Formats: sequence, structure tokens, C-alpha cells
Amino acid sequence: MPLPSYAAFDEKDLGAQVLLSQYKLRTSGDAVTVRQAVARYMKEHGATALSVTRFATAVSEIARNAIVHAGGGEFSIYVDPRAKQLTVVCWDKGPGIEDVELALTDGYTSGGGLGRGLGGAKRLAKIFEIRTAIGGGTSVLMSVNL
Ligand SMILES: Nc1ncnc2c1ncn2[C@@H]1O[C@H](COP(=O)(O)OP(=O)(O)OP(=O)(O)O)[C@@H](O)[C@H]1O
Ligand SMILES: [Mg+2]
Repeated sequence: MPLPSYAAFDEKDLGAQVLLSQYKLRTSGDAVTVRQAVARYMKEHGATALSVTRFATAVSEIARNAIVHAGGGEFSIYVDPRAKQLTVVCWDKGPGIEDVELALTDGYTSGGGLGRGLGGAKRLAKIFEIRTAIGGGTSVLMSVNL
């Protein structure tokens, strides 16, 4: 299944990686589901406990953001044929982020949260890319080596 046209990442960004699974993000339970799916795959493919915890936490924060700030989104897991890399793409059709640098700053929240999710995810995932447009939604790509 290709990425929908409103996703800001495409095949070029994914290289040789293939789609493993795709999820709708609507409720906080969906964020738990994708976190667990990523953690399970990583464990089964030899990732260390620390690496699993770090990446799964990043996944959880990004999925929660799509749900909380964009009213929901979609989440895909891609893997390379030798299972040496896992990439997730989380995208939404929400309001977009006006100032990404500001949004990444620890403590910045547009309301209610601790403002630590986005910046924390970027640090934890190391390979982290965000594309967003006002009124055009937000897409986040994160990768981890296994
Ligand atoms: N998918 C998104 N769509 C629109 N705005 C977003 C999205 N993700 C993050 N933001 C904006 O970036 C800000 C910072 O996000 P971050 O995850 O760091 O904090 P938070 O979600 O407010 O709080 P928390 O610490 O609970 O995650 C949010 O308050 C919001 O304004
Ligand atoms: Mg957040």
C-alpha cells in the first residue's frame, strides 16, 4: 500500500524498505498499539532493551501528538529486507506546526502538555525528520538500526 498523497514522505525517503504494517491513530489506545508493535519487532530482531525502550518511547510521543494536536493520523512501519533497519512514518492532516524549532524546544507546549514530546523524540530516535505545513498537516519519519 503506498503512502497517501498527503504524506510528506515517499518511496525515495524509504529506500529499499518495505511496508510491514499500517495503523490508524484515533485514540490513546492506538498510540499504545503502535508502540507495542514497534517494540515487538525490534525485540524479535535483536535490538537491545535500551534501544527498544528509547525508540518505542519516541514512537509513543509522536503518535500521541498526532492524536492530541491533529485529531488523529496514520502510522506505518517499514523494514529493510535484511531486517537491519526499521523506519516509522507518522502523518496527519492536522493544522501543521508554525514554528518547528520552537515546537522542538523542551517545555514549549501550545497547551496542556509538558512540551517534552517532540524534542524528546528527536533525541531518542537520532534519525528524525519532520515535514509540516500550515493547514497541510505534519509528517514525522524516524529510523533505528537493528
Ligand atoms: N502532529 C502535530 N500537529 C500539530 N501540532 C503539533 C503536532 N505535534 C506537535 N505539535 C505542536 O508542538 C508542540 C510541542 O509538542 P510536544 O510533543 O513537545 O509537547 P506537547 O504535546 O504539547 O506536550 P507533551 O509533553 O505531553 O508531549 C505541541 O504543543 C503542538 O503545538
Ligand atoms: Mg506531545
